[in-house]
Amino acid sequence: MVATLFAWTAALAATASAFDCTGPYFTMYNRKGFGMSVQRLDPAVEPGMQSSHLHNFDGGNGLSLNTDFEGLTGSSCTTARVKPDKSLYWRPALFWNGNGTGFYRVPEQLKIYYKFGDGDESAVPSEFPENFQMMAGDPFKRSDDGNNPGGIRWACHGPMGASTKENIFTKGGFPTGITGCDGLGLAAEITFPSCWSGKEIDPKNPNAHMAYPNAYSGKKGVDVCPEGFKAARFPTIFVEFWYDITAFNGQFKATDNPWVLAQGDPTGFGFHADFRNGWEKGVLAKATGKSGYCDCGCGCNEDSLRKCFGADQVNDNNDAAFTQCSAKPAFPGEDAPRVDKLPGCNPIQQGPGRAERKTGPDCTSSPPAGGNDESEDSPSSSAAPSASSSAPAASGSSSQAASTSKAAAPSNKPSSTRKGRMSIQTQNAGNNPTSVQKDEMSIQTQNAGNEAQPPVVSAKPDSNGNVVVVTETIYATSTLGYKHRRHTHARRHHLR
Ligand SMILES: *[C@@H]1O[C@H](CO)[C@@H](O)[C@H](O)[C@H]1NC(C)=O
Repeated sequence: MVATLFAWTAALAATASAFDCTGPYFTMYNRKGFGMSVQRLDPAVEPGMQSSHLHNFDGGNGLSLNTDFEGLTGSSCTTARVKPDKSLYWRPALFWNGNGTGFYRVPEQLKIYYKFGDGDESAVPSEFPENFQMMAGDPFKRSDDGNNPGGIRWACHGPMGASTKENIFTKGGFPTGITGCDGLGLAAEITFPSCWSGKEIDPKNPNAHMAYPNAYSGKKGVDVCPEGFKAARFPTIFVEFWYDITAFNGQFKATDNPWVLAQGDPTGFGFHADFRNGWEKGVLAKATGKSGYCDCGCGCNEDSLRKCFGADQVNDNNDAAFTQCSAKPAFPGEDAPRVDKLPGCNPIQQGPGRAERKTGPDCTSSPPAGGNDESEDSPSSSAAPSASSSAPAASGSSSQAASTSKAAAPSNKPSSTRKGRMSIQTQNAGNNPTSVQKDEMSIQTQNAGNEAQPPVVSAKPDSNGNVVVVTETIYATSTLGYKHRRHTHARRHHLR
């Protein structure tokens, strides 16, 4: 939250400004690869049934057809870096279909941020209630409609086949005009809302019970939340999804768009993500509380996370429980690395109008044939947050309530518009938060009160009027474990 600053200014040489990558937040890389489980399940939006499209899940392996808090916190392992976090983080699978031989699922790795500052202090956010779930983004979106409260965007780092290798950041859709991105260089990012109405999720309108905070104005906690959403203020979850596209680089033309999301979205604007709470009780409250909170910032590594969560509470890359963690599939056989068509009934809908929810015998989400073939879990499929707060009814409309509308005729022609190209950058820090480095790309960054030192160089409000953006380049090598390759990470902070 914090001021509303947006800092895309190219000309300012990065005076090794004082962004030191710390503040009231922590980050963790989950396991890289294909996620904990790949299935057509959606505990938030389509509970208790086969969901409409394929999701990649990370987090606790207590995922099941009827996932509940007990099942999730009873997970025997998690692909989150921190063991007490058995929450589920899921998103549509990303496919490459660039050579006419089918849809190839793209491996990835998440970097999850928990931000809990108002200004440079902890906002002392509430713990998520049991069974709490939320969603960010809109699966039906296919173009920039000017409404992007989750700050969704894609990035291509070190673009190949473009006239320069300057990083490309989009305003929501897939980067275009490229033949690849260096290393693990295709990324998406999303910010979850943090202000709660007190109601449980409505699968028909999964965004309605949550709202994004107002711009920071010196207020704290729920006082920063809009009316109707002051039942609780939670930590802000911000996730970067890093896709390993090395297998596809150079195998498509700059005029192609080879990417498609599992719900039949060839634009990237329909990117979305979901969260279901599975934190062991008390742990997150401590990590985000008033004092002694976990503030290793954007450069948390295993050691710093051990200091926050305990010596034996952090997964190492070579822990078998971590590397092998998976959930029993509720509907087996959906995780093939290559498929001829998108799983479920998901015709490609190019937009630019909103996509249509398809109906028909093969198109609707369905309960399992022959009953619940899985799961000893109780069928409490509706999310019933058990917060003790007697929450006020939400009256106002959500800032991103989904609406329905008609779709444009499907088309496979990708848009060739290239959006939001910018050179960015500044320094720092993956493994060593204090070392500042510049690259040849000029630039700059800045930030935003919430970080330890706010070196604002140039800033302006973004179109939402309340998104704080900080962009920086992180030179990471070993923390990601990718072939010791130095590559550029850029990220944006929504400090709210
Ligand atoms: C198509 O791309 C996939 C993934 O890179 C590759 O494995 C396959 O060999 C390609 N097929 C053809 C015919 O080029």
